[in-house]
Amino acid sequence: MAKLLESIRQFFIPPPDEYDPSGDSELFHASAGVRQFSHSFRTVQLPSAQNAEQPVPLDDSARALFKLAEEIRENAYAKYSGFRVGAALLTASGKVYLGVNTENASYPAGLCAERAAISAAVTAGEREFTAIAICGGLATEPCFPCGICRQVLSEFCGADFPVILSNGIYPLRNLLPFAFSLSE
Ligand code: THU
Repeated sequence: MAKLLESIRQFFIPPPDEYDPSGDSELFHASAGVRQFSHSFRTVQLPSAQNAEQPVPLDDSARALFKLAEEIRENAYAKYSGFRVGAALLTASGKVYLGVNTENASYPAGLCAERAAISAAVTAGEREFTAIAICGGLATEPCFPCGICRQVLSEFCGADFPVILSNGIYPLRNLLPFAFSLSE
C-alpha cells in the first residue's frame, strides 16, 4: 500500500503566453474531432493511500480538457439510455481526440465515449496518451469510466495516467488496480 503513496507524474501547466482560459483560442482547432492542445505538464502529488479515492483537484488546464469533453458530449448519440458522455483524449503530440457514446438498437453494440476517442487516436497513428477527460450524465456527479474502458485505457496508459473527471483527477491505478495484462 505504501507504494500507492508515490507521487505521480502529471499534469498540465499552461505556458503563460499560450494559455487562453476562455477556451476560444485559435490554438483549439476543430478538425474531424481533433483539437490542438497547448498545455504542458507539471507534477502533482497523489493523495495518500488512506484516501486514494480522493482525486487531485482540477487546475485550469485540466478544466480546459474537461471543457472539450463537455462540449463534444453534445454530439453523443444516446438514443436509448439518454445518458450522454463525451471524452477528450490528450496525446503526447499535443492533439486531443474526441469521442462520444454511440448507442445502437442492438444495445450491446453501443460504444462508450472513451473507447471512441481512443479508437480515433489509434486510427490516426497515436499510441502515447497524456490524459483523458470524461464528462457524462449529471453535472453534479462525476462520470467514472466503465470497467471495459478502464481496461482499454490500461492497454495504452500507465498506472499514473491522469483520468480527469468533473470532481478531480484520478490516476488510472486508483480506478483499475490489478489491471489484467498478458505480460505480467
Ligand atoms: N458510457 C460511456 O460512454 N462511458 C462510460 O465509461 C460509461 C458508460 C455510456 C454507454 C451508454 O451509451 C451510456 O453511457 C449508458 O450506459
